[in-house]
Amino acid sequence: MSKTSDIAPDPELCNGPAHVAIIMDGNGRWAKLRGRPRLFGHHAGVKRVREVIKAAPHLGIEYLTVFAFSTENWKRTQAEVAGLMSLFRRYIAHEARALDAENVRVRFIGDRVKLDAKLVGLMDELEELTRDNTRVNLTIALNYGGRDEVARATQRLAEEVAAGRLKPEDVDEETLPRFLDTHVLPDPDLVIRTSGEARISNFLLWQSAYAEYEFVDTLWPDFSAQELEDLCRKFGTRDRRFGAVPK
Ligand code: IPE
Ligand code: IPE
Ligand code: MG
Repeated sequence: MSKTSDIAPDPELCNGPAHVAIIMDGNGRWAKLRGRPRLFGHHAGVKRVREVIKAAPHLGIEYLTVFAFSTENWKRTQAEVAGLMSLFRRYIAHEARALDAENVRVRFIGDRVKLDAKLVGLMDELEELTRDNTRVNLTIALNYGGRDEVARATQRLAEEVAAGRLKPEDVDEETLPRFLDTHVLPDPDLVIRTSGEARISNFLLWQSAYAEYEFVDTLWPDFSAQELEDLCRKFGTRDRRFGAVPK
């Protein structure tokens, strides 16, 4: 099957973020405003995911990471959790071919142990199907929590130390992230949260140490490719000093 080829991004966006991570929030409130059940908002949110994936390569975004379900989201009603899990299964099953045809490489981060076997099977298949794709790297955070990720990484690191394969004195800022779910990804340059909440809710805690943040009022089902472009342009005007004094 022929795939969408890699494209040159808009040259005006050459200072744009290479890795954008999005906390897609506000689906429930969007549905409530319309007098509809929360799941209606989650379904509407999926359309925005598609739009953002399509727009990303034109904006010079090489890595796009989206927060779909947090380790804390199990606290929601059983009906909402079940509805979300069914939505994830359907999304993966229905979108797999299109994502592959669009040359999107898909990865998942988060703890898969608590997810049902059917969903995990679909996640594995999609990662395998798209593993050679090059146009954009899409990472979906599903049952993801930053603290949980660091705890799981530390457990595996401790196992390496206990087995004598790693010396405690060799554990540093380079070593630890090799055990994180994101070990093959660069750190995010820009983290966007929709819905007006100014918090990160346990997303990419280690990786976002030097990310730029944008908190926008738009509810996720109203977010558009144009808004993403505006935020990428704004990012290009930021002076990222990483602790140094500017020249
Ligand atoms: C984000 O929207 C989607 C998930 C967390 C799964 P919400 O469901 O949190 O929507 P609000 O914040 O209640 O409006
Ligand atoms: C963060 O949104 C998680 C996702 C977008 C998947 P939440 O709606 O769960 O965050 P809180 O509860 O408002 O902090
Ligand atoms: Mg929310």
